[in-house]
Amino acid sequence: MSAAWRSRSMEPRDIARVVEIERASFPDPWSAAMFADELDCATGLHVVAEEDDGDVVGFLIARQYPDEWHLMDLAVRDDRRRTGVAAGLLDGFLRAAGCAGRRIILEVRPSNAGALALYEARGFAVIGRRPRYYTPSGEDAVVMERTPDEGPGFSGPVLAIETSCDDTSAAVVHTTGGVLANVVHSQDAIHERYGGVVPEVASRAHVERMTVVVREALRQAGIAMDDLAAVAATVGPGLIGALLVGVQTAKAIAWSRCLPFLPVNHLHGHLAAVWLGDPAAPFPMVTLVASGGHTSLIRVEAKNSFALLGQTLDDAAGEAFDKGARLLGLGYPGGRELDVLAESGDPGAFPFPIGLRRSERPDFSFSGVKTALYYLLRDMTESERSARAADIAASYREAIVTALVEKTLRTAVDQGARTVAVAGGVAANSLLRRRLSAEGEARGLHVVVPPFAYCTDNAAMVGAAALQAPVLQYPEYLDIDASASLVLGQWLPAPRSAIA
Ligand code: KG4
Ligand code: ZN
Repeated sequence: MSAAWRSRSMEPRDIARVVEIERASFPDPWSAAMFADELDCATGLHVVAEEDDGDVVGFLIARQYPDEWHLMDLAVRDDRRRTGVAAGLLDGFLRAAGCAGRRIILEVRPSNAGALALYEARGFAVIGRRPRYYTPSGEDAVVMERTPDEGPGFSGPVLAIETSCDDTSAAVVHTTGGVLANVVHSQDAIHERYGGVVPEVASRAHVERMTVVVREALRQAGIAMDDLAAVAATVGPGLIGALLVGVQTAKAIAWSRCLPFLPVNHLHGHLAAVWLGDPAAPFPMVTLVASGGHTSLIRVEAKNSFALLGQTLDDAAGEAFDKGARLLGLGYPGGRELDVLAESGDPGAFPFPIGLRRSERPDFSFSGVKTALYYLLRDMTESERSARAADIAASYREAIVTALVEKTLRTAVDQGARTVAVAGGVAANSLLRRRLSAEGEARGLHVVVPPFAYCTDNAAMVGAAALQAPVLQYPEYLDIDASASLVLGQWLPAPRSAIA
């Protein structure tokens, strides 16, 4: 019976035991000084197999080079040979090295039949011989190579995770473009009592929900984690603590299943909602991204080519809706409730200012309309306010939507765009949807207003954007952090090692 063992990093205190095993295993053993040098090597991988009683019974040493791994030493104490320790150490190493997509090279004595058989069983092939490689014996070495299991390409289901603000979301998107599952757990009920998103509360709620949301997405997609081809997550912009939950979850899954990690810019995600909604929409597009945090007009040349044309100079459109809803005493966040109330009101009842209407620039401003609402309500009695609530909501919505639609369509025409589209939570607004469709088509543009589920924050759009994202293999992605301030067109935050 072999004792249970686990692998852990080799430490200087292990060297004496390791040298004993080495001497009993090979005619040309490494010295203690050689092991000490290896432990100092930052690109090395050094592990020991340790039994439950703390006894070291085997070890593996490898080094990583820019395009290959060199498996340098693998030995097991003689009384533990043929008990699976060598195979276990090797499989652990292959997992780490295979994830990196690099080939592995090793030398072995032609007389070491057990080792040759183990390596062959794990996909190594003999590619040459090094004469008189071992000293002092002068024995030749056989050189073996194992090519990476997968190249940088991948195909199949991709798990995508979105936690940039207050929605915990996981989706499964196939590399062919289909959405297999899109699960969103909104935190609105949690933040409602504070009247806004509390970042630390959002992060904690993401931690609590992440696992169940990922499991549910896999269940709805009808797949297991082992079926995944890649893992994607929003890396920015957004609330840093919230982003980190999704990024770390995705990295952990990628590492445990040896999958590539795809970092996604949240804004690219909102833009991808357009081709999720209409895969045939022609480029170039002008897309309005209007949410609680952004109001931007973006030229989309192709699925991976974006240019910012203009944006809000103050509040985001969603923020203007939410602040209006708050002044009117509607729910939280309020944009949807204001929209519902506005449907039954007269949009011409009250004149609200339309920000930057006469400016040629494709920019927006919503602070004026918000202030006008504040003064209008201040000067009304309580009974006037409730009697005219629907008319006020309709007039307020009219001013915001008019600004959005006029600027968006003018910009799309000026840009020679073939498609005009809207994305982000505000794209759920019923007047915006109706008006952009009708007026866009009247100008001969192809109009895309994606389904509601792809407009508010969701992981399906992140999965769709991930198909254009950099493909990061282990260990490259370990160095990628979340970034609160990622800008349009930026795919990756600066690696941690590049930050002084
Ligand atoms: O994209 P999103 O889910 O989250 C952010 O990234 O901000 O957008 C949420 C925003 C909120 O401001 C919400 O009130 C607004 O979208 N929203 C609406 C409607 N539904 C959601 N605004 C106007 N009309 C709606 N029907
Ligand atoms: Zn968003």
